[in-house]
Amino acid sequence: MAAVVAVVFFLLLVLLLPETPNAKSKFVVDENILEFHLNLEYLEAEFFLYGSLGKGLDKLQPNLTGGGPPPVGARMAHLTPLIRNIFAQFGAQEIGHIREIKSKIGELKRPLMNLSAQSFATVINQAFGRPLYPLFDPYLNDINYLLASYIIPYVGLTGYVGSTPKLKTSISRKLVAGLLAVESGQDAVVRSLLYERAMVRVMPYGITVAEFTDRISALRNKLGRNGIKDEGLVITSNNLKIKGKWKGNILVGNRNSLAYGRTPKESLRIVYGSGKEQVPGGFYPRGAEGTIARKYLINKD
Ligand SMILES: *[C@@H]1O[C@H](CO)[C@@H](O)[C@H](O)[C@H]1NC(C)=O
Ligand SMILES: *[C@@H]1O[C@H](CO)[C@@H](O)[C@H](O)[C@H]1NC(C)=O
Repeated sequence: MAAVVAVVFFLLLVLLLPETPNAKSKFVVDENILEFHLNLEYLEAEFFLYGSLGKGLDKLQPNLTGGGPPPVGARMAHLTPLIRNIFAQFGAQEIGHIREIKSKIGELKRPLMNLSAQSFATVINQAFGRPLYPLFDPYLNDINYLLASYIIPYVGLTGYVGSTPKLKTSISRKLVAGLLAVESGQDAVVRSLLYERAMVRVMPYGITVAEFTDRISALRNKLGRNGIKDEGLVITSNNLKIKGKWKGNILVGNRNSLAYGRTPKESLRIVYGSGKEQVPGGFYPRGAEGTIARKYLINKD
């Protein structure tokens, strides 16, 4: 009799609580994905805040750092008032993004980030396949800062596009759509400002802004190791080729102008600068934080 009662009780439990374990694992999937994106949001926040205001989260929103180390080498850029204004706004937007993501997940430390001029110069030298002299300094002036900014939000953008099909809950999908929309807006602003200057030669190298963007995009495609997901300001993969004075590539998209998506693996290969999700470096000398990024680092051994 006791056994029958136990079985009935167990069946009732199974019938009454079918959602709980499922809902929990769904949440864990989404939490890991959101944690991953937080790494990139930290990078954008610190670069934009330091570049425009000369200070970062530690001064402005210490509660959002999760106790992680301050970024190395970030500083205020020499910007004209319009550009400074735009990037201060971007910085404030990133603070909002971090606050929102952190309200949905457990504690995550800000990862160690290398935002030194040399760190950006390394990317640029890799993009050109040779060292540029003097070393590229992202903090030197508007053009250099815009080019350095071309390196960053777009990786976040493709990451969000890549994550959407994997998200399990509508709360996370809504959050990621909101984040993606503003990241694409930032990318569009950066591209527009660069587009206006596409034929300007970056001094003292004498190389056009357009060529810088093409080289940076080609590097990201190479490091990501999964096809063409990145395009500079000129060469387009849109299938409707409009010739003459209308050609150009102000926004990136595939042949039907849909945004490209990247997996966390591909994004890590790019931001580590190593082409390998197991080998940290570049902007994240000790690797990114969170379950997804740490899993790749651990698998290395
Ligand atoms: C930061 O955290 C402290 C302690 O939890 C809290 O008292 C304070 O209001 C928080 N500040 C902000 C700006 O959120
Ligand atoms: C930052 O990057 C530069 C260039 O790669 C490197 O020389 C420097 O040691 C890095 N700093 C840290 C703390 O990783």
